[in-house]
Amino acid sequence: VKRDLITIHDLSNRALEGLMDLADEIRPNLRSWRSELQGFLMGSLFLEPSTRTRLSFETAMMRLGGKVITSADVSTSSAAKGESLGDTVRIVDSYVDLTVLRHPAAGAARLASRYAHRPIINAGDGGHEHPTQTLCDLYTLRAEKGRVRQLTVMLYGDLLYARTTHSLARALVRFGSSIVAVAQPGLDLPDFVIEDLARIPGYALRHVLITDMADVLQRDRVPALLIDREERLPPASPDGAPVLHHLGAATIDAIYVTRLQRERYAPVDAARTLELPILDHRFLIAPQFRDTVVLHPLPRVGEIAPEFDRDPRAAYFRQAALGVPIRMALILWALGKASLPQGESPAPEEPAVTGFRCLNPACISVQESAVIPPEVTTLGGIPRCLFCETRAEPL
Ligand code: CP
Repeated sequence: VKRDLITIHDLSNRALEGLMDLADEIRPNLRSWRSELQGFLMGSLFLEPSTRTRLSFETAMMRLGGKVITSADVSTSSAAKGESLGDTVRIVDSYVDLTVLRHPAAGAARLASRYAHRPIINAGDGGHEHPTQTLCDLYTLRAEKGRVRQLTVMLYGDLLYARTTHSLARALVRFGSSIVAVAQPGLDLPDFVIEDLARIPGYALRHVLITDMADVLQRDRVPALLIDREERLPPASPDGAPVLHHLGAATIDAIYVTRLQRERYAPVDAARTLELPILDHRFLIAPQFRDTVVLHPLPRVGEIAPEFDRDPRAAYFRQAALGVPIRMALILWALGKASLPQGESPAPEEPAVTGFRCLNPACISVQESAVIPPEVTTLGGIPRCLFCETRAEPL
């Protein structure tokens, strides 16, 4: 079986923990692994900008003794001449043992996996998912907090387009954690993530207005979405309206900050500015954040004040550094050099249906509809695009 990583649901909880265990073995001496993949070649196909993901993958492959070919500038790739993604992937796949793909369209990695005979790793597909960032995030949580289970994590910022939060939210809930989603106004978690989280047994979602963080969040009532086990949630209001909610002394184990993903906004929204306060010294004194680690997938563009970098809770540069050992572990697995515990598959069964199509203009199946037939599945009776997971519409 080809070992792709398209969505975080491709790896069970046991497999994720196995990868982190392997990364723990690798981390103390990165130089001692250089014989593992001699003779292997990785294709690094980045059709959208990146610093950390591309360079940490390339570092990981080279630390393992493998070599890398890179296409990191879309203007010098044949995509600029109009080549379809499927054709590009077929070519790269025929040259290498493993392809790492970043692409601006949602569902691009799923599509690539259809054409590739060798493993495809999703390094970020539009506003959809970024599962290897989640490996890095979970690994950082384990390093900083000692566990990935039963944590309380605040997601903060652009939750609509920040694909890292989509993969992370899925993983956190699978590990029994609680999520407090505080979104920039109008940039809430997308429906495809909410629908997926809502199917986890025992979990429910509650819209609330946080009432006791005015010092930090500079508003008396801050809208948030709590995603948690039903028994840990405040009672719902009869009409479904947001309920007033005190976080109280509840510990936030981590706050995960994201930037405004301006590159995905419609031109009319491009001038959008930060409305939630930036993370600065005020967060240092709020009781909820006393032991909070601050994570950010980076790049940051103003959401975290630079002076915060000196605080021991600022873990985002440590987080980026952990991207190398965890991606070394992932590459070893993908190329069949490491095995992982199986565990129960977290991917729900989604039977295919016909008579629907995707209308999401950010989806690869819509952008390349001339060469890709629509593929629609159902989750809980909701028809959704196989590639980008958004709701499909009747033909
Ligand atoms: N975290 C992350 O994806 O960063 P890059 O865009 O620099 O790869």
